[in-house]
Amino acid sequence: MDMANPPKTATLSIDGESYDLPIMSPTDGPDVVDIRKLYAQAGVFTYDPGFTSTAACESAITFIDGDKGVLLHRGYPIDQLAAQSHYLEVCYLLLYGELPSPAELEDFENRVTMHTMIHEQMHNFFRGFRRDAHPMATMVGVIGAMSAFYHDSTDINDAWQREVASIRLIAKMPTIAAMAYKYSIGQPFVYPRNDLDYAANFLHMCFSVPAQDYKVDPILSRAMDRIFTLHADHEQNASTSTVRLASSSGANPFACIAAGIACLWGPAHGGANQACLEMLREIGTVDRIPEFIARAKDKNDPFRLMGFGHRVYKNHDPRATVMKESADEVLELLGVDNNPTLQVAKELEKQALADPYFAEKKLFPNVDFYSGIILEAMGFPTSMFTPIFALSRTVGWISQWKEQLSDPALKIGRPRQLYTGEVARDYVEVSKR
Ligand code: CMC
Repeated sequence: MDMANPPKTATLSIDGESYDLPIMSPTDGPDVVDIRKLYAQAGVFTYDPGFTSTAACESAITFIDGDKGVLLHRGYPIDQLAAQSHYLEVCYLLLYGELPSPAELEDFENRVTMHTMIHEQMHNFFRGFRRDAHPMATMVGVIGAMSAFYHDSTDINDAWQREVASIRLIAKMPTIAAMAYKYSIGQPFVYPRNDLDYAANFLHMCFSVPAQDYKVDPILSRAMDRIFTLHADHEQNASTSTVRLASSSGANPFACIAAGIACLWGPAHGGANQACLEMLREIGTVDRIPEFIARAKDKNDPFRLMGFGHRVYKNHDPRATVMKESADEVLELLGVDNNPTLQVAKELEKQALADPYFAEKKLFPNVDFYSGIILEAMGFPTSMFTPIFALSRTVGWISQWKEQLSDPALKIGRPRQLYTGEVARDYVEVSKR
Protein backbone atom coordinates (compact mmCIF):
# COMPACT_ATOMS: atom_id res chain seq x y z
CA MET A 1 0.00 0.00 0.00
CA ASP A 2 1.19 3.55 -0.77
CA MET A 3 1.45 4.95 2.80
CA ALA A 4 1.68 8.55 1.53
CA ASN A 5 -1.60 8.15 -0.40
CA PRO A 6 -3.79 5.63 1.45
CA PRO A 7 -6.90 4.51 -0.48
CA LYS A 8 -9.78 6.92 0.02
CA THR A 9 -13.22 5.76 1.07
CA ALA A 10 -16.63 7.35 1.45
CA THR A 11 -18.87 6.25 4.30
CA LEU A 12 -22.60 5.91 3.78
CA SER A 13 -24.85 5.55 6.77
CA ILE A 14 -28.30 3.95 6.42
CA ASP A 15 -30.50 3.19 9.46
CA GLY A 16 -27.52 3.27 11.81
CA GLU A 17 -25.41 0.89 9.65
CA SER A 18 -22.23 2.26 8.02
CA TYR A 19 -20.93 1.16 4.64
CA ASP A 20 -17.46 2.02 3.37
CA LEU A 21 -17.37 2.71 -0.35
CA PRO A 22 -14.01 2.81 -2.16
CA ILE A 23 -13.13 6.04 -3.98
CA MET A 24 -11.42 5.70 -7.36
CA SER A 25 -9.15 8.51 -8.59
CA PRO A 26 -8.95 9.42 -12.27
CA THR A 27 -5.90 10.91 -14.02
CA ASP A 28 -7.96 14.13 -14.26
CA GLY A 29 -11.47 15.14 -13.19
CA PRO A 30 -13.51 14.39 -10.08
CA ASP A 31 -13.05 11.29 -7.92
CA VAL A 32 -15.57 8.48 -8.37
CA VAL A 33 -17.34 6.64 -5.55
CA ASP A 34 -17.43 2.92 -6.37
CA ILE A 35 -20.94 1.70 -5.53
CA ARG A 36 -20.74 -1.65 -7.32
CA LYS A 37 -21.14 -3.67 -4.10
CA LEU A 38 -23.67 -1.32 -2.51
CA TYR A 39 -26.79 -3.33 -3.35
CA ALA A 40 -25.21 -6.62 -2.26
CA GLN A 41 -24.06 -5.09 1.05
CA ALA A 42 -26.78 -2.59 1.92
CA GLY A 43 -29.76 -3.71 -0.21
CA VAL A 44 -30.30 -0.23 -1.73
CA PHE A 45 -29.99 1.17 -5.25
CA THR A 46 -28.74 4.63 -6.16
CA TYR A 47 -31.02 6.96 -8.16
CA ASP A 48 -29.63 9.13 -10.97
CA PRO A 49 -31.92 9.46 -14.00
CA GLY A 50 -30.08 11.27 -16.79
CA PHE A 51 -26.74 10.13 -15.27
CA THR A 52 -25.92 13.59 -13.92
CA SER A 53 -23.56 12.17 -11.27
CA THR A 54 -22.81 8.69 -12.57
CA ALA A 55 -19.64 7.43 -14.27
CA ALA A 56 -20.87 4.44 -16.28
CA CYS A 57 -17.45 3.19 -17.38
CA GLU A 58 -13.71 3.70 -17.23
CA SER A 59 -12.27 5.34 -20.37
CA ALA A 60 -8.90 6.69 -21.55
CA ILE A 61 -10.09 8.31 -24.79
CA THR A 62 -11.61 11.75 -24.23
CA PHE A 63 -11.57 14.14 -21.27
CA ILE A 64 -13.87 17.13 -20.72
CA ASP A 65 -13.62 19.75 -18.00
CA GLY A 66 -16.97 21.45 -18.42
CA ASP A 67 -16.26 24.25 -15.96
CA LYS A 68 -13.09 25.30 -17.74
CA GLY A 69 -14.31 24.59 -21.29
CA VAL A 70 -11.61 21.97 -21.94
CA LEU A 71 -11.88 19.06 -24.39
CA LEU A 72 -8.93 16.68 -24.84
CA HIS A 73 -8.61 13.65 -27.12
CA ARG A 74 -5.97 11.27 -25.72
CA GLY A 75 -4.62 14.37 -23.91
CA TYR A 76 -4.46 16.68 -26.95
CA PRO A 77 -6.59 19.87 -26.84
CA ILE A 78 -9.33 20.06 -29.48
CA ASP A 79 -8.30 23.53 -30.66
CA GLN A 80 -4.77 22.26 -31.45
CA LEU A 81 -6.17 19.23 -33.26
CA ALA A 82 -8.62 21.39 -35.25
CA ALA A 83 -5.90 23.86 -36.26
CA GLN A 84 -2.91 21.57 -36.81
CA SER A 85 -4.15 18.02 -37.42
CA HIS A 86 -6.78 16.59 -39.75
CA TYR A 87 -9.69 14.19 -39.41
CA LEU A 88 -8.06 10.88 -40.37
CA GLU A 89 -5.10 11.59 -38.09
CA VAL A 90 -7.56 12.31 -35.25
CA CYS A 91 -9.34 9.04 -36.11
CA TYR A 92 -6.03 7.20 -35.71
CA LEU A 93 -5.38 8.98 -32.41
CA LEU A 94 -8.81 8.10 -31.03
CA LEU A 95 -8.66 4.48 -32.18
CA TYR A 96 -5.09 3.60 -31.23
CA GLY A 97 -4.22 6.08 -28.46
CA GLU A 98 -1.19 7.89 -29.96
CA LEU A 99 -0.48 10.20 -32.88
CA PRO A 100 0.73 8.10 -35.84
CA SER A 101 4.22 8.12 -37.33
CA PRO A 102 4.26 9.19 -41.02
CA ALA A 103 4.33 5.50 -42.09
CA GLU A 104 1.50 4.57 -39.72
CA LEU A 105 -0.60 7.48 -40.98
CA GLU A 106 -0.02 6.55 -44.61
CA ASP A 107 -0.95 2.94 -43.93
CA PHE A 108 -4.11 3.96 -42.03
CA GLU A 109 -5.21 6.39 -44.74
CA ASN A 110 -4.67 3.70 -47.37
CA ARG A 111 -6.70 1.18 -45.43
CA VAL A 112 -9.61 3.62 -45.03
CA THR A 113 -9.41 4.69 -48.68
CA MET A 114 -9.51 1.08 -49.90
CA HIS A 115 -12.86 0.51 -48.13
CA THR A 116 -14.83 3.52 -49.36
CA MET A 117 -17.04 1.60 -51.81
CA ILE A 118 -20.08 -0.26 -50.55
CA HIS A 119 -21.41 -3.64 -51.68
CA GLU A 120 -23.23 -3.00 -54.99
CA GLN A 121 -26.28 -4.89 -53.75
CA MET A 122 -26.74 -2.20 -51.10
CA HIS A 123 -27.83 0.23 -53.83
CA ASN A 124 -31.09 -1.74 -54.07
CA PHE A 125 -31.55 -1.42 -50.37
CA PHE A 126 -31.48 2.39 -50.66
CA ARG A 127 -34.09 2.22 -53.39
CA GLY A 128 -36.54 0.62 -50.97
CA PHE A 129 -36.86 3.92 -49.09
CA ARG A 130 -39.29 6.67 -50.03
CA ARG A 131 -37.54 9.58 -51.74
CA ASP A 132 -38.72 11.95 -49.02
CA ALA A 133 -37.22 9.84 -46.22
CA HIS A 134 -35.04 11.86 -43.85
CA PRO A 135 -31.39 10.86 -44.56
CA MET A 136 -31.02 9.94 -40.87
CA ALA A 137 -33.85 7.39 -41.26
CA THR A 138 -32.06 5.94 -44.28
CA MET A 139 -28.76 5.85 -42.39
CA VAL A 140 -30.18 4.03 -39.36
CA GLY A 141 -31.52 1.37 -41.74
CA VAL A 142 -28.51 1.09 -44.05
CA ILE A 143 -25.87 0.99 -41.29
CA GLY A 144 -27.88 -1.64 -39.43
CA ALA A 145 -28.12 -3.57 -42.70
CA MET A 146 -24.33 -3.63 -43.03
CA SER A 147 -24.45 -6.62 -40.66
CA ALA A 148 -26.29 -8.45 -43.43
CA PHE A 149 -23.63 -7.53 -46.02
CA TYR A 150 -20.32 -7.89 -44.16
CA HIS A 151 -20.57 -11.22 -42.34
CA ASP A 152 -16.80 -11.49 -42.15
CA SER A 153 -16.54 -8.62 -39.68
CA THR A 154 -19.34 -9.25 -37.19
CA ASP A 155 -17.56 -11.60 -34.77
CA ILE A 156 -16.74 -9.32 -31.86
CA ASN A 157 -14.47 -11.92 -30.25
CA ASP A 158 -12.06 -11.85 -33.19
CA ALA A 159 -9.64 -8.90 -32.95
CA TRP A 160 -9.03 -8.88 -36.72
CA GLN A 161 -12.77 -8.73 -37.47
CA ARG A 162 -13.19 -5.89 -34.97
CA GLU A 163 -10.44 -4.00 -36.79
CA VAL A 164 -11.96 -4.62 -40.23
CA ALA A 165 -15.41 -3.53 -39.03
CA SER A 166 -13.89 -0.32 -37.60
CA ILE A 167 -12.15 0.58 -40.85
CA ARG A 168 -15.21 -0.31 -42.90
CA LEU A 169 -17.48 1.90 -40.83
CA ILE A 170 -15.15 4.93 -40.97
CA ALA A 171 -14.57 4.44 -44.69
CA LYS A 172 -18.15 3.75 -45.80
CA MET A 173 -20.01 6.24 -43.64
CA PRO A 174 -19.37 9.22 -46.01
CA THR A 175 -20.40 7.07 -48.98
CA ILE A 176 -23.62 6.06 -47.25
CA ALA A 177 -24.42 9.60 -46.03
CA ALA A 178 -23.82 10.99 -49.54
CA MET A 179 -25.98 8.26 -51.09
CA ALA A 180 -28.80 9.02 -48.63
CA TYR A 181 -28.59 12.64 -49.77
CA LYS A 182 -28.42 11.89 -53.50
CA TYR A 183 -31.36 9.52 -53.18
CA SER A 184 -33.44 12.17 -51.38
CA ILE A 185 -32.94 14.69 -54.21
CA GLY A 186 -33.41 12.21 -57.04
CA GLN A 187 -29.85 12.36 -58.38
CA PRO A 188 -27.72 9.33 -59.30
CA PHE A 189 -25.37 7.91 -56.69
CA VAL A 190 -21.78 9.08 -57.11
CA TYR A 191 -19.00 6.53 -56.50
CA PRO A 192 -16.13 7.51 -54.19
CA ARG A 193 -12.85 8.73 -55.68
CA ASN A 194 -9.81 7.33 -53.95
CA ASP A 195 -7.51 10.07 -55.27
CA LEU A 196 -9.33 12.61 -53.08
CA ASP A 197 -8.85 13.00 -49.35
CA TYR A 198 -11.62 11.99 -46.93
CA ALA A 199 -13.40 15.36 -46.76
CA ALA A 200 -12.94 16.25 -50.44
CA ASN A 201 -14.27 12.84 -51.44
CA PHE A 202 -17.40 13.41 -49.33
CA LEU A 203 -18.04 16.77 -51.02
CA HIS A 204 -17.47 15.11 -54.40
CA MET A 205 -19.98 12.35 -53.65
CA CYS A 206 -22.56 14.91 -52.45
CA PHE A 207 -22.21 17.61 -55.09
CA SER A 208 -20.86 16.18 -58.33
CA VAL A 209 -23.19 14.99 -61.09
CA PRO A 210 -22.34 12.90 -64.17
CA ALA A 211 -23.31 15.76 -66.51
CA GLN A 212 -20.52 18.16 -65.60
CA ASP A 213 -17.16 18.54 -63.91
CA TYR A 214 -17.04 19.32 -60.20
CA LYS A 215 -13.85 20.57 -58.60
CA VAL A 216 -13.65 20.48 -54.82
CA ASP A 217 -12.53 23.84 -53.42
CA PRO A 218 -9.60 23.08 -51.06
CA ILE A 219 -10.77 25.73 -48.57
CA LEU A 220 -14.19 24.10 -48.40
CA SER A 221 -12.75 20.63 -48.00
CA ARG A 222 -10.52 21.96 -45.20
CA ALA A 223 -13.63 23.45 -43.52
CA MET A 224 -15.46 20.14 -44.00
CA ASP A 225 -12.52 18.26 -42.49
CA ARG A 226 -12.57 20.63 -39.50
CA ILE A 227 -16.28 20.00 -38.95
CA PHE A 228 -15.55 16.25 -38.95
CA THR A 229 -12.68 16.77 -36.49
CA LEU A 230 -14.74 18.89 -34.10
CA HIS A 231 -17.41 16.20 -33.89
CA ALA A 232 -15.12 13.15 -33.74
CA ASP A 233 -15.71 12.18 -30.12
CA HIS A 234 -17.23 13.61 -26.97
CA GLU A 235 -16.81 11.32 -23.99
CA GLN A 236 -19.89 9.44 -22.69
CA ASN A 237 -22.64 11.45 -24.44
CA ALA A 238 -26.08 9.95 -25.11
CA SER A 239 -25.31 8.28 -28.46
CA THR A 240 -21.93 6.94 -27.29
CA SER A 241 -23.55 5.52 -24.16
CA THR A 242 -26.20 3.98 -26.43
CA VAL A 243 -23.48 2.30 -28.51
CA ARG A 244 -21.81 1.02 -25.33
CA LEU A 245 -25.09 -0.28 -23.91
CA ALA A 246 -26.02 -2.01 -27.19
CA SER A 247 -22.56 -3.53 -27.41
CA SER A 248 -22.59 -4.74 -23.80
CA SER A 249 -25.01 -7.47 -24.86
CA GLY A 250 -22.53 -8.71 -27.47
CA ALA A 251 -24.37 -7.18 -30.47
CA ASN A 252 -22.37 -6.80 -33.69
CA PRO A 253 -20.67 -3.46 -34.46
CA PHE A 254 -22.99 -2.41 -37.29
CA ALA A 255 -26.07 -2.93 -35.11
CA CYS A 256 -24.42 -0.94 -32.29
CA ILE A 257 -23.51 2.01 -34.53
CA ALA A 258 -27.05 2.01 -35.99
CA ALA A 259 -28.32 2.34 -32.39
CA GLY A 260 -25.94 5.29 -31.87
CA ILE A 261 -27.22 6.99 -35.03
CA ALA A 262 -30.82 6.60 -33.85
CA CYS A 263 -29.97 8.24 -30.52
CA LEU A 264 -27.98 11.05 -32.14
CA TRP A 265 -30.98 12.03 -34.25
CA GLY A 266 -32.90 13.67 -31.38
CA PRO A 267 -32.99 17.49 -31.21
CA ALA A 268 -31.46 17.55 -27.70
CA HIS A 269 -28.37 15.84 -29.17
CA GLY A 270 -27.11 15.74 -32.79
CA GLY A 271 -30.44 16.85 -34.24
CA ALA A 272 -29.82 20.27 -32.64
CA ASN A 273 -27.82 21.49 -35.66
CA GLN A 274 -30.83 21.12 -37.95
CA ALA A 275 -33.20 22.48 -35.29
CA CYS A 276 -30.87 25.45 -34.67
CA LEU A 277 -30.75 26.53 -38.29
CA GLU A 278 -34.53 26.15 -38.61
CA MET A 279 -34.90 28.32 -35.50
CA LEU A 280 -32.55 31.01 -36.89
CA ARG A 281 -34.56 31.06 -40.11
CA GLU A 282 -37.80 31.29 -38.16
CA ILE A 283 -36.45 34.25 -36.19
CA GLY A 284 -35.55 35.72 -39.59
CA THR A 285 -34.56 39.26 -38.59
CA VAL A 286 -32.65 40.65 -35.61
CA ASP A 287 -35.61 42.72 -34.37
CA ARG A 288 -37.47 39.46 -33.51
CA ILE A 289 -34.68 38.13 -31.27
CA PRO A 290 -36.08 39.52 -27.97
CA GLU A 291 -39.37 37.71 -28.62
CA PHE A 292 -37.56 34.35 -28.98
CA ILE A 293 -35.34 34.98 -25.96
CA ALA A 294 -38.46 35.71 -23.92
CA ARG A 295 -40.01 32.45 -25.13
CA ALA A 296 -36.87 30.48 -24.20
CA LYS A 297 -37.10 31.90 -20.66
CA ASP A 298 -40.82 31.25 -20.28
CA LYS A 299 -41.36 28.08 -18.22
CA ASN A 300 -44.82 27.63 -19.77
CA ASP A 301 -43.37 27.53 -23.29
CA PRO A 302 -41.49 24.34 -24.31
CA PHE A 303 -39.34 26.38 -26.72
CA ARG A 304 -35.58 26.34 -26.01
CA LEU A 305 -32.81 28.22 -27.76
CA MET A 306 -31.39 25.49 -29.96
CA GLY A 307 -27.59 25.39 -30.06
CA PHE A 308 -27.47 26.74 -26.49
CA GLY A 309 -26.66 24.86 -23.29
CA HIS A 310 -24.84 21.65 -22.56
CA ARG A 311 -24.99 19.01 -19.86
CA VAL A 312 -21.24 19.14 -19.26
CA TYR A 313 -20.02 22.56 -20.45
CA LYS A 314 -20.86 25.25 -17.93
CA ASN A 315 -18.43 27.57 -19.70
CA HIS A 316 -17.85 28.07 -23.43
CA ASP A 317 -17.90 24.92 -25.61
CA PRO A 318 -14.35 24.88 -27.08
CA ARG A 319 -15.72 23.34 -30.28
CA ALA A 320 -18.11 26.29 -30.73
CA THR A 321 -15.21 28.77 -30.59
CA VAL A 322 -13.41 27.03 -33.47
CA MET A 323 -16.69 26.56 -35.35
CA LYS A 324 -17.46 30.28 -35.15
CA GLU A 325 -14.04 31.18 -36.61
CA SER A 326 -14.59 28.61 -39.35
CA ALA A 327 -18.04 30.07 -40.14
CA ASP A 328 -16.52 33.53 -40.60
CA GLU A 329 -13.80 32.15 -42.91
CA VAL A 330 -16.14 30.03 -45.04
CA LEU A 331 -18.78 32.71 -45.41
CA GLU A 332 -16.19 35.28 -46.40
CA LEU A 333 -14.73 32.86 -48.95
CA LEU A 334 -18.15 32.24 -50.42
CA GLY A 335 -18.95 35.95 -50.40
CA VAL A 336 -21.97 35.48 -48.12
CA ASP A 337 -20.63 37.15 -44.99
CA ASN A 338 -23.70 39.38 -44.87
CA ASN A 339 -25.88 36.25 -44.80
CA PRO A 340 -29.03 37.13 -42.77
CA THR A 341 -28.95 33.83 -40.85
CA LEU A 342 -25.40 34.58 -39.70
CA GLN A 343 -26.43 38.10 -38.67
CA VAL A 344 -29.29 36.68 -36.60
CA ALA A 345 -26.96 34.07 -35.07
CA LYS A 346 -24.35 36.64 -34.05
CA GLU A 347 -26.90 39.02 -32.57
CA LEU A 348 -28.77 36.19 -30.81
CA GLU A 349 -25.52 34.99 -29.24
CA LYS A 350 -24.75 38.55 -28.07
CA GLN A 351 -28.19 39.17 -26.58
CA ALA A 352 -28.46 35.75 -24.91
CA LEU A 353 -25.01 36.00 -23.33
CA ALA A 354 -25.92 39.43 -21.93
CA ASP A 355 -29.16 38.09 -20.43
CA PRO A 356 -29.07 37.14 -16.70
CA TYR A 357 -31.21 33.99 -17.34
CA PHE A 358 -28.53 32.46 -19.59
CA ALA A 359 -25.68 33.70 -17.38
CA GLU A 360 -27.20 32.23 -14.19
CA LYS A 361 -27.90 28.88 -15.84
CA LYS A 362 -24.48 28.93 -17.52
CA LEU A 363 -25.95 28.45 -20.98
CA PHE A 364 -23.43 29.12 -23.75
CA PRO A 365 -23.53 28.42 -27.50
CA ASN A 366 -22.60 24.79 -28.20
CA VAL A 367 -21.01 23.13 -31.24
CA ASP A 368 -24.34 23.01 -33.06
CA PHE A 369 -24.88 26.77 -32.95
CA TYR A 370 -22.53 27.64 -35.83
CA SER A 371 -22.06 24.34 -37.69
CA GLY A 372 -25.38 24.63 -39.55
CA ILE A 373 -24.49 28.05 -40.91
CA ILE A 374 -21.29 26.69 -42.47
CA LEU A 375 -23.02 23.60 -43.82
CA GLU A 376 -25.83 25.67 -45.33
CA ALA A 377 -23.31 28.00 -46.98
CA MET A 378 -21.58 24.94 -48.45
CA GLY A 379 -24.85 23.93 -50.08
CA PHE A 380 -26.13 21.24 -47.71
CA PRO A 381 -29.87 21.13 -46.91
CA THR A 382 -30.72 21.12 -43.17
CA SER A 383 -31.69 17.43 -43.35
CA MET A 384 -28.02 16.59 -44.01
CA PHE A 385 -26.65 18.33 -40.93
CA THR A 386 -27.25 15.46 -38.51
CA PRO A 387 -26.02 12.76 -40.97
CA ILE A 388 -22.76 14.76 -41.20
CA PHE A 389 -22.55 14.75 -37.40
CA ALA A 390 -23.18 10.98 -37.47
CA LEU A 391 -20.43 10.28 -39.97
CA SER A 392 -17.98 12.42 -37.97
CA ARG A 393 -18.90 10.76 -34.66
CA THR A 394 -18.59 7.22 -36.02
CA VAL A 395 -14.91 7.08 -35.08
CA GLY A 396 -15.74 8.13 -31.52
CA TRP A 397 -18.42 5.46 -31.24
CA ILE A 398 -16.06 2.82 -32.62
CA SER A 399 -13.15 3.82 -30.40
CA GLN A 400 -15.38 3.60 -27.33
CA TRP A 401 -16.88 0.32 -28.55
CA LYS A 402 -13.41 -1.20 -29.02
CA GLU A 403 -12.25 0.08 -25.66
CA GLN A 404 -15.28 -1.43 -23.94
CA LEU A 405 -14.78 -4.82 -25.59
CA SER A 406 -11.19 -5.00 -24.39
CA ASP A 407 -12.20 -4.20 -20.79
CA PRO A 408 -11.99 -7.40 -18.69
CA ALA A 409 -14.57 -5.89 -16.30
CA LEU A 410 -17.22 -5.69 -19.08
CA LYS A 411 -20.70 -6.69 -17.94
CA ILE A 412 -24.00 -6.32 -19.72
CA GLY A 413 -25.44 -2.85 -18.98
CA ARG A 414 -28.50 -3.41 -16.83
CA PRO A 415 -29.78 -0.41 -14.83
CA ARG A 416 -32.29 -0.90 -12.01
CA GLN A 417 -35.25 1.33 -11.16
CA LEU A 418 -37.23 3.07 -8.46
CA TYR A 419 -40.51 1.17 -8.90
CA THR A 420 -43.61 3.33 -8.39
CA GLY A 421 -46.30 1.04 -9.88
CA GLU A 422 -48.96 -1.14 -8.21
CA VAL A 423 -47.89 -3.72 -5.65
CA ALA A 424 -48.89 -7.36 -6.36
CA ARG A 425 -52.67 -7.85 -6.81
CA ASP A 426 -54.96 -10.64 -8.05
CA TYR A 427 -56.16 -10.87 -11.63
CA VAL A 428 -59.88 -10.09 -12.09
CA GLU A 429 -61.80 -11.81 -14.90
CA VAL A 430 -63.08 -9.48 -17.63
CA SER A 431 -66.79 -10.15 -16.82
CA LYS A 432 -66.21 -9.05 -13.22
CA ARG A 433 -64.52 -5.71 -14.01
N1 CMC B 1 -32.80 27.39 -23.81
C1 CMC B 1 -33.45 27.81 -22.68
N2 CMC B 1 -33.30 27.27 -21.47
C2 CMC B 1 -32.45 26.23 -21.36
C3 CMC B 1 -31.74 25.72 -22.48
C4 CMC B 1 -31.94 26.35 -23.72
N3 CMC B 1 -31.29 25.91 -24.82
N4 CMC B 1 -30.98 24.68 -22.09
C5 CMC B 1 -31.19 24.53 -20.77
N5 CMC B 1 -32.08 25.46 -20.34
C6 CMC B 1 -32.53 25.65 -18.94
C7 CMC B 1 -33.53 24.58 -18.56
O1 CMC B 1 -34.87 25.00 -18.80
C8 CMC B 1 -33.24 24.40 -17.08
O2 CMC B 1 -33.87 25.45 -16.40
P1 CMC B 1 -34.43 25.18 -14.88
O3 CMC B 1 -33.24 24.84 -14.05
O4 CMC B 1 -35.06 26.49 -14.52
O5 CMC B 1 -35.40 24.06 -15.00
C9 CMC B 1 -31.73 24.62 -16.98
O6 CMC B 1 -31.39 25.45 -18.10
C10 CMC B 1 -30.91 23.32 -17.04
O7 CMC B 1 -31.32 22.62 -18.18
P2 CMC B 1 -31.48 21.03 -18.26
O8 CMC B 1 -32.43 20.66 -19.35
O9 CMC B 1 -31.76 20.49 -16.89
O10 CMC B 1 -29.99 20.64 -18.66
P3 CMC B 1 -29.52 19.30 -19.33
O11 CMC B 1 -28.10 19.16 -18.97
O12 CMC B 1 -30.43 18.17 -18.97
O13 CMC B 1 -29.71 19.57 -20.90
C11 CMC B 1 -29.28 20.16 -23.16
C12 CMC B 1 -28.67 19.88 -21.77
C13 CMC B 1 -28.15 20.30 -24.18
C14 CMC B 1 -30.17 18.97 -23.58
C15 CMC B 1 -30.11 21.48 -23.09
O14 CMC B 1 -29.27 22.57 -22.76
C16 CMC B 1 -30.86 21.77 -24.40
O15 CMC B 1 -31.95 21.25 -24.59
N6 CMC B 1 -30.25 22.59 -25.33
C17 CMC B 1 -30.83 22.83 -26.63
C18 CMC B 1 -30.52 21.67 -27.56
C19 CMC B 1 -29.07 21.65 -28.03
O16 CMC B 1 -28.52 22.66 -28.45
N7 CMC B 1 -28.45 20.45 -27.98
C20 CMC B 1 -27.08 20.24 -28.46
C21 CMC B 1 -26.14 19.88 -27.36
S1 CMC B 1 -24.40 19.93 -27.91
C22 CMC B 1 -24.24 18.73 -29.15
C23 CMC B 1 -24.71 17.37 -28.79
O17 CMC B 1 -24.65 16.94 -27.64
O18 CMC B 1 -25.13 16.65 -29.69
